[in-house]
Amino acid sequence: MNNNPNTEQSFFAPGRVNLIGDHTDYNGGLVLPVALSMGTYLTISQRDDQLCRFSSDNDQAVFELDEAGMSQHHHCWVDYPLGVIKEFTDRGYHFQGYNFHFRGNMPIGAALSSSASIEMVTALALNSLNNKPFTLLDLVKMAQHAENSFVGMNCGIMDQFAAGFGKDGHAIALDCNTLEYEYVPLASEDFRFVICNSKKKRGLVDSAYNQRRQECEEALRILQKLVPIEHLCQLNTKQFDELSSQVTEQFSDTVLRRARHTISENERVKEAVHALRNHDMSRFGQLMNASHASLRDDYEVSCPELDFLVEQAQQFEGVLGSRMTGAGFGGCTVTLIAEKQIESFIKELGEKYKERFGQEMEGYVS
Ligand code: GLA
Repeated sequence: MNNNPNTEQSFFAPGRVNLIGDHTDYNGGLVLPVALSMGTYLTISQRDDQLCRFSSDNDQAVFELDEAGMSQHHHCWVDYPLGVIKEFTDRGYHFQGYNFHFRGNMPIGAALSSSASIEMVTALALNSLNNKPFTLLDLVKMAQHAENSFVGMNCGIMDQFAAGFGKDGHAIALDCNTLEYEYVPLASEDFRFVICNSKKKRGLVDSAYNQRRQECEEALRILQKLVPIEHLCQLNTKQFDELSSQVTEQFSDTVLRRARHTISENERVKEAVHALRNHDMSRFGQLMNASHASLRDDYEVSCPELDFLVEQAQQFEGVLGSRMTGAGFGGCTVTLIAEKQIESFIKELGEKYKERFGQEMEGYVS
């Protein structure tokens, strides 16, 4: 690859929190993520040999890999940059040796997209070192493809898009079908979004996630016999109820509920964007609560820790709404709360959580 020899260069890509719209992105729906100030920094420098060295402040393991080693899976964080490097080499970019040092200041595996931030920071660095042949949107797609094909997590585009296109003080209302997007100002003076990290490790998330995707694809196949749609989110709930009632025998209860979540969640995002634009934070909060219930009951991606945090939060003074965020099975919740209540909220919720689960909770104000 071309580069500026021997100089060390630094890059950054953020994590994200999704305010509403989970498990809609791979169904051609809407999402509303916000990029965080937390994320991943990468310092990269050229080497005199053909090896690539990967190190991280978060892990003692160091990987020094030749070309063969770089095409193998190592089943840990290094697969994220390796997948992105492969995206470049697949497009004809010959690889020279580099030192990659990653430094993250965000919780890992907490549903705040640390993986997408590693992928995007690698993509931004390699693009820059090669005189920027790719657009930002190309890089987002390459990072998503790296995760799908190299890491084996069949994710949608939300996380990489938020890491690439995030803007200070704004949420991104993204249509994952057309990739059209709008920035929506997080305008409220009095309310903030608080992230609570359950620290519940997200075991088996990849396989359960991929299974949810398959269930949505099954629902789509059934519905496509009745209407010419390409994605579940092209339907609204009324249309879905009408169509599904014509073919009830073809739907298992599980597949029906998966589709119902996806389609109703998409409508909630649409309404939430409208509420945010109109400073109707109270409606926004109600939609967050409904979103959590749907993710818990219809999509079945919550867990006792997240349900506890959400239920406690929803009863707290000054809270307008609360929900799990991201893929689920652990990780974080996001809560819309009056600014003046934040301190006592994090303290009291943390105490209750510790008492119930014997685990510290961490709170971050976005
Ligand atoms: C993960 C995936 C995203 C999205 C969310 C759920 O974060 O990477 O593409 O599907 O789960 O909304």
